[in-house]
Amino acid sequence: MKTVHIDVSNGYDVLIGRGLLDSAGEKCVSLFGKCRAMIVADDTVANLYLERVLKSFENAGMPAFVFVFPAGEASKNKDTLFEILESAAENGLCRNDIMVALGGGVAGDLAGLASALWQRGIKLVQLPTTLLAAVDSSVGGKTAVDLENGKNLAGVFHQPSLVICDVETFKTLPAEVFACGMAEVIKYGVLFDKELFEEAGNGISDIESTVEKCVMLKGRCVAEDEFDFGSRRLLNLGHTFAHSIEKISEYKFAHGEAVAIGMVMAAELSAKMNICDPSLADEIREALIKNDLPVSCSFSFEEIKSGMVNDKKRNGDKIAFILPERIGKCVIENIKSSEI
Ligand code: NAD
Ligand code: GLY
Repeated sequence: MKTVHIDVSNGYDVLIGRGLLDSAGEKCVSLFGKCRAMIVADDTVANLYLERVLKSFENAGMPAFVFVFPAGEASKNKDTLFEILESAAENGLCRNDIMVALGGGVAGDLAGLASALWQRGIKLVQLPTTLLAAVDSSVGGKTAVDLENGKNLAGVFHQPSLVICDVETFKTLPAEVFACGMAEVIKYGVLFDKELFEEAGNGISDIESTVEKCVMLKGRCVAEDEFDFGSRRLLNLGHTFAHSIEKISEYKFAHGEAVAIGMVMAAELSAKMNICDPSLADEIREALIKNDLPVSCSFSFEEIKSGMVNDKKRNGDKIAFILPERIGKCVIENIKSSEI
């Protein structure tokens, strides 16, 4: 098993390994003592893994109850959030109990926000079961739900107290969901690590080490700038475009797919601004295509631009873009809406 420590004010460990779901209960009891757990999962993940997780809590002597919601981004809204909170109330969840997110980024973002709101904040444990959640959303404390007007608009920072990533769960991922995680792996490569970028393009050989590397890279950004006012914003590479593409496609493009398209657009914009060589977009495109990810969409520039107006990356009349200079180095550019 690999352990990465995330060095924020209430620092926590990310455990990465095989078969870890079976010891999740034991690890929680040793960290949090005797309390209860509320497990939040979507119905797909619940069918696959809930029994095992419940068993591990039972074996560890930690009583647990469950909230299950329909899988998909459409559930990441205020209604599901308040259903989780009502369920916490009905089941008498206490302040020293824990909430456990079992699943992908949707379960993580929902349970993350619910755990931050429930009785003004209880401890959160993330059990990521998608590659995307393992390398990105389960670490760093961003939580949110989508509003009618845009993606992730209502949320808070609430760091988990423990992340347990059982990479064996990736075996049941549909290929296109695994690919979404690869978009985020490629993102870390473009941002910080040419070797990782090349590895992601050629096919990952050791998924545990890849997750460890990505979590270390993310952890470093989060420790440097927990609340996303400075260097952490680099992690939004491709996202200025992606959030708009997700919304105007009515979430037919999954987050990772939209990030893939957004990274190509960011490289093209970067070349237009003479920040990088035009060949960089081709290099990124090639790595994405090798992972069966989309690299373009049919929306017009005006449509995509209009979707950026409500994004969190807008400040006044400027929108922040993360632009690659070369593989392994990106810069943050604030561009006036009228100049995009
Ligand atoms: P997801 O949670 O919807 O999971 C994708 C699909 O895979 C779902 O249908 C789910 O049921 C299924 N699934 C999950 N694990 C499985 C498994 N092991 N086997 C089979 N099927 C499985 O989506 P995602 O791609 O994990 O995450 C995307 C979400 O994460 C978006 O809402 C995005 O905004 C958010 N996100 C948040 C952060 C953050 O920092 N908080 C970062 C990146 C993305
Ligand atoms: N997913 C980007 C971040 O956590 O900052």
